Amino acid sequence: MGIAIIGTGSYLPELRLTNRDMEMMVDTSDEWIVSRTGIKERRICPKEYSASDLGVFASLKAIEDSKIKKEEIEFIICATITSDMYFPSTACIIQKKLELENIPSFDFQAACSGFIYGLEIAKGLIVGCGYKKGLVIASECMSRLTDYTDRSTCVLLGDGAGAAIVSFSEKEGIIDSFLSSNGNYGDLLYTPAGGSLYPCSFETVEKRMGFMKMEGSTLFKIAIYSMSEAVNKLLERNKLKKEDISIIIPHQANYRIIAGVAKNLDIPIEKFFINIEKYGNMSAACVPVALDEAVKEGRIKKDDLIITVAFGAGLTWAANLIRWIK
Ligand code: UT7
Repeated sequence: MGIAIIGTGSYLPELRLTNRDMEMMVDTSDEWIVSRTGIKERRICPKEYSASDLGVFASLKAIEDSKIKKEEIEFIICATITSDMYFPSTACIIQKKLELENIPSFDFQAACSGFIYGLEIAKGLIVGCGYKKGLVIASECMSRLTDYTDRSTCVLLGDGAGAAIVSFSEKEGIIDSFLSSNGNYGDLLYTPAGGSLYPCSFETVEKRMGFMKMEGSTLFKIAIYSMSEAVNKLLERNKLKKEDISIIIPHQANYRIIAGVAKNLDIPIEKFFINIEKYGNMSAACVPVALDEAVKEGRIKKDDLIITVAFGAGLTWAANLIRWIK
C-alpha cells in the first residue's frame, strides 16, 4: 500500500522579465547572467495576484490532468515561502478559491525543497491517516521578496506554481524520500524582516530587510554537495544503479549547480530535466513545474523511475524516488 501521483499541473504568469530588461535595472549583462546561471528570462506575477492565485491555477490543471472531481480531494497542503499573508494559510485561501470545504489544509515551509518534503507529508497522510486523495502545491511569488537594486540576487528569481494530485495506490509511486536540513547555515539565505523577529516597520523598509539576502558562492558549493548526497542516499538504500533512473528532476537554482551535481554523480547532464532558462529560480515551485513539463513533453513514461532533488534555505535538502505509474 502506498501513494502515487495521478495528475500534475503548473502555472507560469504571462509577464516575462528578460535579461535585457534586467540590464536596464541593474549593472549586469545578458552574457553574465547566461554564462553564470543559464537563465534567460523569468516570469512575474501581476500585482493583483498572489501565491494563492498561482496555486489555484496550477491546481486546476492538476485536477483536470488527474481526471478526478475536485470534491474527491481530501486534503490540501501548500509549500511556500511567499504566502499571501501571515495567516490564514495559503492552503486555506486556495481551498476557498477552489470552493472546497471541510477538509484539512495547511502550509509548510522547507524553502526550495518544499515540494519534495510535501510528497512525503502527503504519503504520511494517506498511508498513516487513511486519506485517499490529496492536493500538493508549491506556489511562489519570489518577485515580492526580490530586491531589484541587488544584482547578485534579482537576476535569479521568478514566479510560478506547480501542483500534483496524489492518491492511495496499491503499487508504490513514492518509493522513498530523503529529507534533511542544517539550521546552522540559515544565515546564508534568508529574508530578515516580515516575521515575528523583525515585523514590518519603517526601519525594516528603510534597511531593505524585507528582501532576500544570499551568500551565493558558499551556497553554490553546498548545493552541489548536498544534492549529490541526497541522490546517492536514495540510490544506495534502494539498491539501485544510476542507470536504473530514467530522469532526474532537479531544483533550478543555477545551470552550473545542476551540471556540478551531474558531474559529481557521473550521470549524463541529458538525464537532468532543465528549464531554468525560461523561469529562473522559483523556489519550491521549480520541482513540480519541471515535473509537469517533463511529463507533458513525453520525457516520462509509465513505470519510469524518477528522482527529484532540491536544496534551499534552512538549509534544507531533499530527494524523492518516484515510480511513474499513472
Ligand atoms: O535556491 C537555492 C538558493 N540559491 C542558490 O543556490 C544560488 C547559489 N549561487 C549561485 O548560483 C551563484 O553563486 C551566483 C549566480 C549567485 C553567483 O555566481 P558566481 O559565479 O558565484 O559569482 P560571484 O558571486 O563569485 O561573483 C563574481 C562577480 C563579482 O564581481 P567581482 O567581485 O569579481 O568584481 C560580483 O559582484 O560577479 C559579480 N556579479 C555580477 N556581475 C554582473 C554578481 N552578480 C552579478 C550580476 N551581473 N547579476
